[in-house]
Amino acid sequence: MEKEKVILTGDRPTGKLHIGHYVGSLRRRVELQNSGQYQKIFVFEADAQALTDNIDNPEKVRQNVIEVALDYLAVGLDPQKSTIFIQSQIPELCELSFYYMDLVTVSRLQRNPTVKTEIQMRNFETSIPVGFFTYPISQAADITAFKATTVPVGEDQEPMLEQAREIVRRFNHIYGETLVEPEILLPDNAACLRLPGTDGKAKMSKSLGNCIYLSDSADEVEKKVRSMFTDPTHLRVSDPGKLEGNTVFTYLDAFCKPEHFGRYWTDYANLEEVKAHYTRGGLGDMKVKKFLAAILQEELTPIRERRKEFEKDIPAVYEMLKKGCEVARETAAQTLDEVRRAMKINYFDDAALIAEQAQRFHQ
Ligand code: TRP
Repeated sequence: MEKEKVILTGDRPTGKLHIGHYVGSLRRRVELQNSGQYQKIFVFEADAQALTDNIDNPEKVRQNVIEVALDYLAVGLDPQKSTIFIQSQIPELCELSFYYMDLVTVSRLQRNPTVKTEIQMRNFETSIPVGFFTYPISQAADITAFKATTVPVGEDQEPMLEQAREIVRRFNHIYGETLVEPEILLPDNAACLRLPGTDGKAKMSKSLGNCIYLSDSADEVEKKVRSMFTDPTHLRVSDPGKLEGNTVFTYLDAFCKPEHFGRYWTDYANLEEVKAHYTRGGLGDMKVKKFLAAILQEELTPIRERRKEFEKDIPAVYEMLKKGCEVARETAAQTLDEVRRAMKINYFDDAALIAEQAQRFHQ
């Protein structure tokens, strides 16, 4: 039998989703959902993981659960095709994490580069919460509970996937073939691996105020594009411009398609021509920004409109999430049963064990 193909991926609900999430993962997710190539698709909000570094701010997580759900629906995730759920509502994930903790060393966790960076960013050096430190283990539980084969995420999640794969191999080696080894699915366009902020900083982040949100109004998008970081040495139109580190061009690499030229900029046939003109000198930033804004509006307008529709019936969105949690829980419980059996902690549903013990005490 063909092995079942299962997608699982998720986001921490600590803010509304932005176009970095979109090109890094959401857009691909919707394509995969609609490709018909996957038997099951799970998309979830990692609220428990979000709490590992927001423990004193539960309200933030609570508010953003609905925002992220709306963003999911707005980009085209379809509850008929994808199970959308919330991590904290699946207690089986905690139990799996607890057992996986035996399979991972402290020094292995300390080597995780993503966790290392996050510890620095949050000034956790001297007081790392254990829950935060061990979130890669909990993430392995998220992935394996659903027997995910394919995890579409950004490149910052690579160390998490490697950790999950190690746990699977270790578990299966010790307890017998039980868990499925997941594969990461990275964006295929380099510009999408990590979209910089509008200010040119390495990452879009709410605290830096350099994000374009999926829910931004057309005006906000326009304004943000107009003030985007380009090449600071490109002062006059006639000056030659640089493409490296030029955020407008990075965004074009992520969003521009050949057909956009026919629609919005007939002076050029493709992005290469624009880049050549810009590097040569004689092409002003404003023109390039206008083109980028048109492309972003084309992509974001339907998303914004769909979001508005779903915002009209918020209770229905919560109901959708609740149903998703029920479905997800069934799958996770099934895997947990198998894990317990493999680890020999299934005392009461094992008639052979009881009979064998009875024998031993009565011969
Ligand atoms: N760590 C991911 C992020 O910050 C969210 C996440 C939690 C996740 N568990 C996951 C992603 C499992 C993929 C699979 O975006």
